[in-house]
Amino acid sequence: MCGIVGYVGRSEAAPILLDGLRRLEYRGYDSAGVAIVNGTCIETRKCAGRIADLARLMTRHPPVGHYGISHTRWATHGKVTDENAHPHFDASGRIALVHNGVIENYSALREQLEREGGHTFNSDTDTEVLAHLIGSIYQQLNGADSKARLVNATRAALKQVIGTYGIALVHSEIKDFIVGARRGSPLVLGVGRDENFLASDVSAIVAHTRDAVYLNDFDIVAVSRDSFDISSLAGEAGNYQISKVEFGAEDVSKGDFPHYMLKEIFEQPNSVRDAMRGRLDYDECTAKLGGLNMAPADLRDVNRIILTGCGTALHAALVGEYLIEQLANVPVEVEYASEFRHRNTPMSGDTLVFAISQSGETADTLGALRESRRKGFRTLGICNNVASTIARESDGGVYMHAGPEIGVAATKSFTSQVTILALIGLLLGRIRHLSTSQGSRVIEALEALPEQIEQVLKLSDHVRAIAKKYASADGMLFFGRQFNFPVALEGALKLKEITYLFAEGHPSAELKHGIIALVRPDLPSVFIAPDDAVFSKNLNNIEQVKARKGPIIALTSGNGSAHLKNIASDVIEIPCVSDVVAPVLTAIPLQLLAYHLAVELGRDVDKPRNLAKSVTVE
Ligand code: AGP
Repeated sequence: MCGIVGYVGRSEAAPILLDGLRRLEYRGYDSAGVAIVNGTCIETRKCAGRIADLARLMTRHPPVGHYGISHTRWATHGKVTDENAHPHFDASGRIALVHNGVIENYSALREQLEREGGHTFNSDTDTEVLAHLIGSIYQQLNGADSKARLVNATRAALKQVIGTYGIALVHSEIKDFIVGARRGSPLVLGVGRDENFLASDVSAIVAHTRDAVYLNDFDIVAVSRDSFDISSLAGEAGNYQISKVEFGAEDVSKGDFPHYMLKEIFEQPNSVRDAMRGRLDYDECTAKLGGLNMAPADLRDVNRIILTGCGTALHAALVGEYLIEQLANVPVEVEYASEFRHRNTPMSGDTLVFAISQSGETADTLGALRESRRKGFRTLGICNNVASTIARESDGGVYMHAGPEIGVAATKSFTSQVTILALIGLLLGRIRHLSTSQGSRVIEALEALPEQIEQVLKLSDHVRAIAKKYASADGMLFFGRQFNFPVALEGALKLKEITYLFAEGHPSAELKHGIIALVRPDLPSVFIAPDDAVFSKNLNNIEQVKARKGPIIALTSGNGSAHLKNIASDVIEIPCVSDVVAPVLTAIPLQLLAYHLAVELGRDVDKPRNLAKSVTVE
């Protein structure tokens, strides 16, 4: 979604803003722009297209100045055009504003301004309406202190806004000063020495400072070179703390990898290890998850669990359903976050809800979390982004500690989420019926994972060869059973996202209930069929595809290879692993398959079309 970077300090703002925007590229965008204050004039450069296009524009006509704001736009209101790119100006042309979010009542506000007169709009955006509203109120306010006037005008305008926003604005006649505010869209203040920053994501500013204030909803921040002041929309002094960002600029670079996605796939031995670090209790054969903020007696009282999330997080939740039900015998339901928040899911007092989100900012998941808490249910988060809104608004939770995930296609976050759900299953199981020896077997299976992932990653070249072989296919089908059915969904999502090919994931047995009509000699079927309790059932389904001349890519383990080598067109052999943690291993070859196929097809792997990393609109 949209990204914001603001800078006020002694350095030239242009390179800092441009570098920040490049670091936000992964969020997904279709146009970009900057506004830098030079004396009493605001220099704006903006265009539809890539940051590289903006950079070319800025090289031809370099904007000069020591403070400014910048933006990557992901279109919601108005087409992808130069005019609709941010920043937008008020009627006086002295206030420039960038915005992330949606002003739901922008039409009413626009009509109100048009009635007032003197407002001509140059774009179709909701953002321009907000810029005009702030400008209009600024004109009407009195007071010699122009900084306070701008903050008060912003506050008064935002009180009229229905919707979500993260904003940053400058006034051409207010030197070294930026105003920021948030509601529903993230905004972080970077605190530097003689310079300060605003950004929708710390990765944009972590090269300059690791001291950050994560603003809360309804915060307004007035940022100068050497100070900042945070107040609420109601005008009260804001509560804040300066946190140390856990990662540095090197962690948000590609290193020696051609793409973030590949780097993140190869980080999985470590990210899975980090998801378990300090959480395995060898003496009691259970998991230690203090962040849940729940005593064993509270956990024993839980009689139903709802797991909610979107996209890949939802697929991890589906694995979690199998895991928790198998290990703890507690009924689990998985809900699309976007549906859950709007429907009357029957829930009793002992229902525990988990909102799963890598970014911790997904609007639909945040909405589900808020709805669940509003109804009085204990709602926990499983997030990667430590200071995210979901992490902060939950009653407790488990951090993934996977490090920044920049590639739009989620990879390491999936395997970390599944690992954490296994820990939750183990913990709940051990305070119920799971014996010490069963608990200890789960711990052994978890501990073996990083080493086994290393082995799976060695298959990358083999998977690349398979990807090349099927590069002319116009789609793929994915099938799996039990724990690996959600992996089939995830494999299909990965393929769709970054190759733009048609893909569907199904439980293997569903094949004969309709999907088999799609089978044809040029449409490969990927079967996730490890050597487990349902292998022979999977084999039947594989034979059904084979009988109809459908090419088969089989992902298997152990004795499965011997059965499949004469049936499948291609076999990918992974180490033998316990059923409960199998998805951590089986997902990885499918990530690699999507990746190599996307590269083969010349796709923009890390920034696939139309997609955003963190979906902060509904
Ligand atoms: C996965 O590859 C996608 N990019 C997307 O489905 C993602 O998982 C979803 O938007 C949820 O994101 P979150 O984990 O940050 O909430």
